[in-house]
Amino acid sequence: MEDGRPRPSSRRRRPAAIRKFAKLPSVARIDHLECTKCGASIDATRPQTICPKDGGVLYVRYKLSALKPKFTTASLAGRMPTMWRYAEVLPEAEPVSLGEGFTPMLRSREFPNVYIKDEGLNPTGSFKARGMSAAVTMAKAYGLKKLAAPSAGNAGSALAAYAAAAGLQAYIFMPKDVPLANRVECETYGANVTLVDGLISDCARMVAERKEKEGWFDVSTLKEPFRVEGKKTMGYEVAEQLGWRVPQGIIYPTGGGVGLIGMWKAFQEMQDLGWIGAERPQMIAVQAAGCAPIAKAWDDAKPAAEFWPNAATLAAGLRVPKAYGDYLILDILKKSGGVALAVTDDQIMDAVREWGRVEGIFAAPEGAAALAAYRKLRASTFFGPDDTVVLFNTGSGLKYLDVIEDRKKSEHRLAPASRQIGGIIGPY
Ligand SMILES: Cc1ncc(COP(=O)(O)O)c(C=O)c1O
Ligand SMILES: [Zn+2]
Repeated sequence: MEDGRPRPSSRRRRPAAIRKFAKLPSVARIDHLECTKCGASIDATRPQTICPKDGGVLYVRYKLSALKPKFTTASLAGRMPTMWRYAEVLPEAEPVSLGEGFTPMLRSREFPNVYIKDEGLNPTGSFKARGMSAAVTMAKAYGLKKLAAPSAGNAGSALAAYAAAAGLQAYIFMPKDVPLANRVECETYGANVTLVDGLISDCARMVAERKEKEGWFDVSTLKEPFRVEGKKTMGYEVAEQLGWRVPQGIIYPTGGGVGLIGMWKAFQEMQDLGWIGAERPQMIAVQAAGCAPIAKAWDDAKPAAEFWPNAATLAAGLRVPKAYGDYLILDILKKSGGVALAVTDDQIMDAVREWGRVEGIFAAPEGAAALAAYRKLRASTFFGPDDTVVLFNTGSGLKYLDVIEDRKKSEHRLAPASRQIGGIIGPY
């Protein structure tokens, strides 16, 4: 080294995107970043990814006790109806906002005590807007210029939109069979799109291989700390919209699980702020039967999930064969007295139609999986009719017109044959 001092052996060379960042943002509100595996305290004044020691996901920690006297539930009155109303527990930087968050909490017309949190009304039509608003806000504050992410679709759309709004470049890797809307959106927002013949895990590998050389900062799910911060605002909103009560259950369509992880973090923060007590909702992770690594790990009582081979489901956002934060998701399910379960694509499509017909909500297949799960949990008496349960519709069905139309065509093709042979399909 030029100064002759030995470099600590554990210190890794920083990626080019981080080495080049220009200015230090004000992070006064943030105390530090904390590793969720080893508890290490990490500096937030420069861009960070994961724990350098063990690859653990990093949580943003605030000085909540200092905030507590002034940041009260009453202080929210009259604030803007976006996720930035909770500014004190979000990054301290000029928000890159397109009006995300504070989505409607709709009372179900079918089930008394069930609420539908309609995230389809976010910018770019999904809850991914929240995470990307926070991540791009901090990326801009850190002076980063090029952001890259693998995406099942909606995260790509959101990154592309927020990068455009921030004047940054986005590099997005998506499976080639991603819903059409996602590809068209990303291109319209001026992102650099690569369609990959594979799954999101293959896309993630491509980003990881190229980021150093290209100078990209990787905003992959849970590989930077701020997407969780954006998504956690769903937890704040659930409590605020229910009058500072938490529901008995929250059903969350889980791919990478960032929303579930974020909401759980939010409940602890709200307790530390004195906004709620120690009560917690039972957190329910719903996955698609064709890609259910978390549900399988849950059934097998494992603390982490295994890679799910040949992942296949029409709910593109749930086609995540291995979640980076699997250990966090499984721990939350356990601590909350929740459960992970899988529903089939047929059940998902039935739920899309039911929500459309009965509630007037055109849900993303991922979101409709929450209704399919609720039905199962009611049938098994896990939830009773008096339990207040919040179902997350994570996106708008308008983003899946091609997927839904294709599905309809294949159902029509199969219907006559299934009738002829008494409901059993095949062999052909
Ligand atoms: C509409 C929708 N719902 C749910 C998910 C899963 O989200 P998470 O990765 O936070 O579990 C996705 C991910 O792409 C999505 O697009
Ligand atoms: Zn660590």
